[in-house]
Amino acid sequence: MIRNIALQSPTGAAREEALVIPVYKGTRKLSSGAVRMDRAFGAVGAVFFAEGFSAERGETRIASIKRGRRLVYTVLVGLGDRAQANAEELADAAGASAKLLLQHRVESAAFYLDDLFAGTTLDAADATHAVVKAFGLACHQLKQRPTAKLSRLVLRTTRSARELTPAIRRARLLVDGMVRVRDWVNLPANQLGPASFTDDAKRALTKDGVTCRVLTRKQIEAEGMNGVLAVGVGSREEPRFLIAEHALAKKNWPLVCLVGKGVTFDSGGISIKPWEKMNEMKSDMAGAASVIAATAMAAQLELPVRLVAIAPCVENMPDGSAFRPGDVIKLKSGKTVEVLSTDAEGRLILADAVAYARDHYQPSIIVDMATLTGGVLIALGTRVAGIMGNSARDLDDMREAGERSGEPVWPLPLDERFLAMIKGEVSDYKNYGGRNASVITAAALIGTSAAATPWVHIDIAGTSWNDGSGYSYQSRGGTGYGVDLLVRFLEIIAARV
Ligand code: BES
Ligand code: ZN
Ligand code: MN
Repeated sequence: MIRNIALQSPTGAAREEALVIPVYKGTRKLSSGAVRMDRAFGAVGAVFFAEGFSAERGETRIASIKRGRRLVYTVLVGLGDRAQANAEELADAAGASAKLLLQHRVESAAFYLDDLFAGTTLDAADATHAVVKAFGLACHQLKQRPTAKLSRLVLRTTRSARELTPAIRRARLLVDGMVRVRDWVNLPANQLGPASFTDDAKRALTKDGVTCRVLTRKQIEAEGMNGVLAVGVGSREEPRFLIAEHALAKKNWPLVCLVGKGVTFDSGGISIKPWEKMNEMKSDMAGAASVIAATAMAAQLELPVRLVAIAPCVENMPDGSAFRPGDVIKLKSGKTVEVLSTDAEGRLILADAVAYARDHYQPSIIVDMATLTGGVLIALGTRVAGIMGNSARDLDDMREAGERSGEPVWPLPLDERFLAMIKGEVSDYKNYGGRNASVITAAALIGTSAAATPWVHIDIAGTSWNDGSGYSYQSRGGTGYGVDLLVRFLEIIAARV
């Protein structure tokens, strides 16, 4: 874990165990400051170039020399093409160097920051943010090894503390939030059920100054949220419904409701899933986790938005009392749904939660985040989330937030054509519209509760989990995706006039 981050001039002597020099493709020699540093560390940079280091993004070289009684290291890390540099790719490259330092049990590292922005259109603060994020996240590993102990990061730069400190602070808060999400997602369902998850979340939110309450089954019933009840009824763990409020008294700030899917385990219910990879369904509460972490982070950043986080939390299990295919449920919105598959459970609990948001808060916008469909993984893979909604401006702003955060999203169309695919025969709607457009028809049911309220849906089933092919700074399991996306979106909303 990185405990200590400092800014230092690039020319002074370095006391750190390792020097990291980032290099864009096509660079033939290091910048003068980096050369000076490199010389102090044994002048290995030139050797690497001679040996064919080509600075592909994430490519690394490491060398050690003895200084006094200890080893010091020089690391070159490739950044890829200078013209295409963005936050996502910088973080990926920086993360590769951090992982290498961890392997070598390095405790303190100096990063030659200025080489990131020289000759690019990148904002220095944004680039710094990407590096601090990548180093912080790289240190979070599934199995905490006692040897992994990188704890001090020195950023060597000519830029002022005034310019970079806010970005460093923001990145540190982001790492804390993303690590929290990863830990929650990675916890097995026998250690994290609806009650323990919401207890934990409430503790975390309260500590960050967010007001929080948790509805139990009776209160969920009294609210008419029969979708939440139906999905949860087959589990011995009773459902919970978390509501967290930030700055609600500021009446002239925009009011945003963030809704997150909190299925602590999705067995599929009576429409049970095949056993393969079913263990990964402990991650089906990633949306709720990200929404909660983003709310805590927004509060710490004191963003000028009124914010309500809402998380319906249930375990989807089959037992003698479980809901069944064929059941007809009256949602909080008043609409009835026929259950065709109990495995299409997310849309039921989210339809209720979105209706709750509208009823109780009349927000200027509702954003829901959910590991909703396998289809989004097929369509967009593991690095881009799908977005849908009813408000072009908000969808555009979410795209922008995706670019800024390095958590990209891509829109899919959602209109009456897709709603027609889930029109019911014995009810208003059915909870499954077939394999065609399954990402969109799932969203469409949630949209029936949003009605005329501006609403953006984010399907993170592909991006919330790393199967091993992810970014350098990720480890297997939960990624923490979505926290920065949401906070960037809130920053855009806050800046609107
Ligand atoms: N939680 C799953 C979606 C999911 C799939 C998340 C893979 C993460 C990785 C969701 O509840 C689900 O089961 N969706 C099904 C619905 C279908 C069987 C009706 C889907 O999209 O395949
Ligand atoms: Zn699910
Ligand atoms: Mn399911």
